[in-house]
This record gives sequence, structure tokens and C-alpha cells, in this order.
Amino acid sequence: ASTAATSVSVSGDIASQLHGGYSHPLARAWQAERQLTKSMLIYPIFITDNPDESELIPSLPGQRRMGLNKVVAFLQPLVRKGLKSVILFGVPLAPSAKDTLGTAADDPQGPVMAGIRLVRKNFPQLFVVADVCLCEYTSHGHCGILHEDGSLNNTLSVDRVSDVAMAYAEAGAHCVAPSDMNDGRIRAIKLKLIESGIAHRVVLMSYAAKFSGCLYGPFRDAAGSVPSFGDRKCYQLPPGGRGLARRAIERDIAEGADIIMVKPATQYLDIISDAKEIGKNMPIAAYHVSGEYAMIHAAAKAGVFDLKTMAFEATEGILRAGASIVVSYFTPDFLEWLDT
Ligand code: PBG
Ligand code: ZN
Repeated sequence: ASTAATSVSVSGDIASQLHGGYSHPLARAWQAERQLTKSMLIYPIFITDNPDESELIPSLPGQRRMGLNKVVAFLQPLVRKGLKSVILFGVPLAPSAKDTLGTAADDPQGPVMAGIRLVRKNFPQLFVVADVCLCEYTSHGHCGILHEDGSLNNTLSVDRVSDVAMAYAEAGAHCVAPSDMNDGRIRAIKLKLIESGIAHRVVLMSYAAKFSGCLYGPFRDAAGSVPSFGDRKCYQLPPGGRGLARRAIERDIAEGADIIMVKPATQYLDIISDAKEIGKNMPIAAYHVSGEYAMIHAAAKAGVFDLKTMAFEATEGILRAGASIVVSYFTPDFLEWLDT
């Protein structure tokens, strides 16, 4: 009888028994290579040139556009809850703030430059990322400087974008993140950082694989950066372009990027995974963009699913694909949810 009892467990049946391995909530959490923590999150902040403004952005539920006088009080409770990092976007509203060269981008009194100084001074522990682009500041709304015929002048754009990145770094940004997608900007920024002797204290995060599409709509509403003509297809990547993304990632690593970002996130999980494989020795970031965030809110509101469950599922998918940094509008929610 005893031999019969032991022989019950035989032949292939052992390997088919998986349930036990994730039978407890903690054992389920252990299945993930990377578990979501507060230090993985970067929160986007939109700063306007109207100092007392604090306006909800209709297309980005719960997110605000605010003036410099509102930033500290806004961040205080979040920092108390464990916010570790913000990425700053400037939103100039004054009509005079836009021209063909995006001159206002590095105005020393402008919202981003002043915002960097303000946040550094008031929150010494907070890691400050500055998004670097011209589209919020150009009269035509494109991410670079244009030729007469409206096409992108890559040489002038790279010159200008790298100057702006330098200005943000010198104002105190811990990290500069060029999102313009002009060719060669990572190299240009890295060289300028080296030449001016601050390369050792600035993280260079490249939006290396940034795809064109319709998921940036709410952001462009928020930032007032809809192009006045044409689209961004000549510099942002085509959605099917996996090989092109791999080349852009390889190039930006070779040009000196410290972190590679993929954007959007949930539609491009294969690209995140490629980035992790190509950049296996560096952190990979993903931007869970405005359209993804708005979509989850809209679907939750329509009763399709529970907001919190979906926010976790989407973000855990992004981590599983290979990211260890997530730029997310859900950051304030996660600071709450991760405590419970
Ligand atoms: C600016 C920039 C954009 C985003 C980040 N930086 C918009 C764009 O390229 O049109 C998108 C962020 C989001 O949608 O949340 N170059
Ligand atoms: Zn841009």
C-alpha cells in the first residue's frame, strides 16, 4: 500500500502543478521581476507663465496647469507621500512668448528655468527632470527650427535644442530629457555638458523611441503645442517601425544617453523590451502618455473596468516589458495606492 501511495505523484504531473506557487498574495507579487515602487515614478508638471494660475486640464482628468506661485503648495503633500521625481514642462500662454526659434524656451525668467530653481530650492530631495523641446515655444508648434519651405532644419534645431538643454542643466536640473527627436541631439548635448564641465552631475535621458500617433492629444491641449501646419511624422517614428526604433536606441546609446525612454508605453511594449535588450546595462524608462491616461479614465468612467486595477495592470505590463522608470500621470494615485 505504501508503494502505491508514493507512486501517485509520478510522470509529468508534478510539473503541471503551478497554482501552489502563486497561492498567496506575496507569492503572487514575487512572480514579477520588478515590483512597482515609488522611486520608479516620475510625475509630469505643467508650469505656465501666469504666476497665480491653477487650472484643471479638461482632457487630462485631475491634472493641472499651474503658475510658479502654486507649485510649492501643490508638490508639498505629494513629496510628503513619497514623490521622488518630477518632469517639468513649460506652458507659455503670453502671446509674445512664441516665435520661429522658440526663444522663450530658455528665458531665464521663464516658467521652466524659474521652475527648476524653485523646485530645487524648496524640495532638496526631489529629482528634477526637465523636458527639452521647442514645440511649446515655437510659433509654428514644431519641435525644431524650420527651413523657409516648412521642413525641419536639423542642424539649427540641434544647436538650439542643445543650448536649451544646457540652460536647464545649468539652472539645476538633475536630468535633461530631449523629446524633440532631431537627429544627433544626444551627442550635441553630451558634448556641451562635457565642455562646460557639468557632464558628471547631469543625467541625459533620451526620448529615443518616440512614436508619432494620436496619443499625445491631451498633452498638446495642456501644453498648447499643436503644430499650426503639418504633423510630426518627419521626426517621430512610424508606429510599425520596430527596426527603426532599435536603430534610434542604438544610436542614442552610442551618442551618450544615460537612460533610454520609449513613448508611448502600452502600445509599444515590444519596443520597451527591445530597449532593455539593447540597453541591458542601463535603466529603461517608459512614458505612459496623456492619451493612455485619458483613455483609462474614460473607460473607467464608462464602466468598462475599475480605474485602479487598470492603472496597476498597465503599469505592471510596462515594468514586465523591461522598464524600471515610468513617467506617469497616475503618480499621485500610486503614492496613495502603494501605501495600502
Ligand atoms: C514635446 C512632448 C510631447 C510629449 C512629451 N514631450 C508631445 C509631442 O511630442 O507632441 C507627450 C507627453 C504626453 O502625451 O503625455 N515634444
Ligand atoms: Zn516637441
